[in-house]
Amino acid sequence: MTQGRLSAKSLGLTKHRHLLGVEDLDASALVELHEQIDRFVEVLSRPNPKVPALTGKTVATMFYEDSTRTRVSFETAARRLSADVMGFAVSASSVKKGESLRDTAATLGAMRIDALVVRHGAAGAPVQLARWVEEGVFDAAIVNAGDGWHQHPTQALTDTYTLARSWLVGDGADPSSCFSGLRFVFAGDLRHSRVLRSSAVACAMLGAQCVLVGPVSLHPSGIDLWLPSGCSGDGSLRLSDDLDTELVNADVVYLLRVQSERQNEALFPSGAELHQRYGLTEARLSRLKPTTAIMHPGPMNRGVEISSKAADHPNSLIVKQVANGVASRMAVLYRLLGGEE
Ligand code: NCD
Repeated sequence: MTQGRLSAKSLGLTKHRHLLGVEDLDASALVELHEQIDRFVEVLSRPNPKVPALTGKTVATMFYEDSTRTRVSFETAARRLSADVMGFAVSASSVKKGESLRDTAATLGAMRIDALVVRHGAAGAPVQLARWVEEGVFDAAIVNAGDGWHQHPTQALTDTYTLARSWLVGDGADPSSCFSGLRFVFAGDLRHSRVLRSSAVACAMLGAQCVLVGPVSLHPSGIDLWLPSGCSGDGSLRLSDDLDTELVNADVVYLLRVQSERQNEALFPSGAELHQRYGLTEARLSRLKPTTAIMHPGPMNRGVEISSKAADHPNSLIVKQVANGVASRMAVLYRLLGGEE
């Protein structure tokens, strides 16, 4: 992969390498990252699961929202690459005393960091940080670990990798269109989901036909603009509000949590109602093809978007998504920070 592919070219940010959104990648960048993830999965299976690739580099994590798996997997990934980790808990920081995002980032930057992994409730916060890097306020590669409803590109990477290495994709498949001919259903809170905006787009970039299913009140607008221009292959995105019809012949069912922290409108009657109409209930589970894969980025609300039986089903890739999260984030940090093999 050329190093430039991970830079935010679309934003005209040319001085530094960042991963701000899935549009910073394309099918060939995804494939090359998948191959890199393969190598790190092998590293993680060793008795000593560590390589010296990023010795001397410092990765700072700055999480303005609660997170378990994303934060832990980034910090574990950095340590497995022998980088130093500067964990920054917003709840125990000067942010509580009113410090701005710019000043906080500049403070961390002054301590010489190489990468800043940021999760923020506001869409666009990582882009703004990248602009400040461009202006010389501080210096670091910015990695978006989830911003508002906007993007969660490393989730897309772990999701596409997990599927590309699953039973759904044969050995002979062309890696850059490995999901061609497969039908993916994404169901739940479509409107407030940054995972959807990254993972469904990445799956479509690799050829998947993606149907986004949820109540019309939770349909996002402008999905025609989600696929980057020049996105090749037969991948597509379309909306539906009829889960039972869409599940017929689905190859992947990807459930999305109701993002109650990001909305307080009454967009659907109750969790129980959402489960009945748009959840992967036990009854719907029993009607899936025997090969259908079940996915969820976590944290799950069992009994709302997904039944316990579906979450714990043998075809569930949910634990694999988390496990592959570490090697996926290793691949991103390694590429951005220029590690040598
Ligand atoms: C997701 C997130 O925070 O966007 N979780 C994650 O990163 N694994 C999805 C969610 O919170 O529902």
